[in-house]
Amino acid sequence: MIPQNQWYVAAYGREITTGELFGRTVCGESILFWRTGAGEVTAMSDRCVHRRFPLSQAPTRLEGDRVICGYHGFTYGPDGVCVAVPGQTRVPRTARLRPYPVVEQDSFVWVFIGDPGLADPTRIPRAPWLASPDYTTVSGMEPLAARFELLVDNLLDLSHETYLHGGYIGTPEVAGTPITTQVDDEAGVVHVSRRMADAECPPFYSRSTGLTGRISRWQDIEYTPPCLYLLHSRIAPVGSEPRPDGTDPDAFHVEVVYAITPETEHSTHDFWAVARDFAPGDEEVSAFLAEQNRTVVLQDVAALDVLERVIAAEPEGYQELSINIDTGGLAARRMLARLGAATPSTAAV
Ligand code: FES
Ligand SMILES: [Fe+2]
Repeated sequence: MIPQNQWYVAAYGREITTGELFGRTVCGESILFWRTGAGEVTAMSDRCVHRRFPLSQAPTRLEGDRVICGYHGFTYGPDGVCVAVPGQTRVPRTARLRPYPVVEQDSFVWVFIGDPGLADPTRIPRAPWLASPDYTTVSGMEPLAARFELLVDNLLDLSHETYLHGGYIGTPEVAGTPITTQVDDEAGVVHVSRRMADAECPPFYSRSTGLTGRISRWQDIEYTPPCLYLLHSRIAPVGSEPRPDGTDPDAFHVEVVYAITPETEHSTHDFWAVARDFAPGDEEVSAFLAEQNRTVVLQDVAALDVLERVIAAEPEGYQELSINIDTGGLAARRMLARLGAATPSTAAV
């Protein structure tokens, strides 16, 4: 079940360019995005109120701050209100596209799905590294033909790196090191931490940092259901610790960010970003990390697309077996179930 009354990442800000109409389905809703002359992103239903022509489709066009439907010319302003119809001067009072609350932040465009009266922009979780001059970021988005819960499960249990991503980011120590899980119900965050004191350095980190030999590797996950997943990754020579004053000059820090946005109940937008605090602006390192991370994401996509088909075809009542490594994923499922269950009563407010 897709939680309603929540903020979801719909796009990167760079995907919505001035003068262009951009359509994307979020949580089963077809949404039109565009930038006004003032540079603000605006979002509204992508179905013309007349005969439901998708407004993101040519020959629909933008003229200044107005969208002119490419079928019969209904014309809409940035608030979705229809300002002109063909063949008559009177515009029906109900001729308005549903507007969506939208916020551009940390390089993402967030959209609120649910009752707009409940949209509180201060509740959008942050990923400040993505727009920080102190970090160099590579990012992308891959479509996933699987329900978003499968990606949540995948990202909360990184022991799969050893098997699914061996030779890229996986080494034996990832699956071999126990995790600690903490649930902060008040903040609505699941924390999963794995600290490897003496581990092999996978190519993803050896080639990007230049570290040779074994490493201390920390994986600290912070998942804010439903959409934002952060992996704070710390790589350092064995024995190196952050200093008492909080500085950490011998370590390399990578902030891996995922936005997990349901497209429909059975498909997902898998936004990924890798922000690093070393080799700033080094295009070779950027190209390497972008190519490696995309490869890793596509390995997950291939596995999860298979799982979706397996689940869709199986009879009800299949019993999974869970072990210690699943505590983070199970905590995330419980939180998502609560958000999903909260939907009808909250929507009724
Ligand atoms: S469908 Fe848009 S004007 Fe007719
Ligand atoms: Fe993975």
